[in-house]
Amino acid sequence: MDTHYIEEGLVKIEVPDFEKVSSKAPVFYNPVMELNRDISVVVLNQYRKTLDHDVVIFDAFGGTGIRGARYSKEIPGVEKVLVGDVNPLAVEIARKNMELNEITNVDVEKNDANVLLQSNKGLFDIIDIDPFGTPAMFTQSTAINIRPGGLICISATDTSALCGTYHDPCLRKYGAQPQKTEYCHENGIRILLAFIARNLAVNQKYMHVLFSHSTEHYMRIYATVKRGGKKTNESLNNIGFISHCTNCLHRQSYNGFVPPVEGYCPECGEKYVTAGPLWLGNISDKEFIADMIETVDELKLNKKDDLLKLFNQCYEESEGPITFYDIHKLCKSLKTSSPKMNDVIDEIRKRGYFISRTHFKLTGLRTDMPLNELKDLILKVKEETLGNDV
Ligand SMILES: C[S@@+](CC[C@H](N)C(=O)[O-])C[C@H]1O[C@@H](n2cnc3c(N)ncnc32)[C@H](O)[C@@H]1O
Ligand SMILES: [Zn+2]
Repeated sequence: MDTHYIEEGLVKIEVPDFEKVSSKAPVFYNPVMELNRDISVVVLNQYRKTLDHDVVIFDAFGGTGIRGARYSKEIPGVEKVLVGDVNPLAVEIARKNMELNEITNVDVEKNDANVLLQSNKGLFDIIDIDPFGTPAMFTQSTAINIRPGGLICISATDTSALCGTYHDPCLRKYGAQPQKTEYCHENGIRILLAFIARNLAVNQKYMHVLFSHSTEHYMRIYATVKRGGKKTNESLNNIGFISHCTNCLHRQSYNGFVPPVEGYCPECGEKYVTAGPLWLGNISDKEFIADMIETVDELKLNKKDDLLKLFNQCYEESEGPITFYDIHKLCKSLKTSSPKMNDVIDEIRKRGYFISRTHFKLTGLRTDMPLNELKDLILKVKEETLGNDV
């Protein structure tokens, strides 16, 4: 296998030569995921600061070992990292990478993620699940084996299922109905979170979501996990459904495990399409994001600018309502072209409603302004300003 060296954060890593990123590569390494790894380093740093003890981390899908190496070097207070991978070549290169960086507190094991989770019961403070495609088949053993008070970090790259391009795989893997709306990436994260919450609940565990984002072709969630029957029952109140009217864009959310009986839009009478069960609770913690923004200053990260842009967007939208509107879709339904986003945002703000952009979509508006008022406002802004830029 031909290889070369790259530098990320504080580590130098040997990676296979490749022309195109592919899961068929002898050992998987994707340079585009550097931002994902930088974000993980910040989240783990900030989470570790909230504890009064050192942590044991499991990087269950190690690849070149880059995450495990970075967690060891870039996070103070790490007792040990276990890196796992089923691919013997990955294990070989990951071991070499630990030596290359003079890392002594990382073990690398060739084994299936579920096997390593089950054989290290209750040992891990942090579990990182970064598989090809869906994490669904690793969620139950993660739920069983995370220490109470621990942190779970879970990626999903099967966004076409979670976002509703492929309906049946979402039903099969997550037991949920997706919908291909303009906010389908937000729904996708909520479907993933609801699935995780249900897996945790089986083990009398519940989560507090610290951060989640949808970037490029993947979604990633970070949540702390605690134990307790009563709190677990309460946390399931965050599960529910979102009904959406494809005609007038009205939407409605319902908490509970039973889908809404009424199936028609109260505004225009069109039949609703419904997504769920999904997580209707918070998908990020505003204070945690503010703390992470401070922590970023202490770290050497190549993707700092992109990361801060994302953190700031997520900070702004973190306490907004569920779902957002897309200005282009709204304008299409109004049979007009889009006014400038900033003019619309200013006007919504003037009227005292919550308003933010969203990291999910460049043309998204997250607001609690009633839809009819928003439509009137857009027409008014359109009349007053004749701009076409968004
Ligand atoms: C998306 S890559 C991980 C990339 C790595 N975390 C990084 O940031 O560069 C997925 C890795 O999981 C490994 N893998 C696939 N199925 C596995 C399983 N069931 N248990 C453990 N590892 C697995 C693959 O060999 C591959 O190295
Ligand atoms: Zn309607």
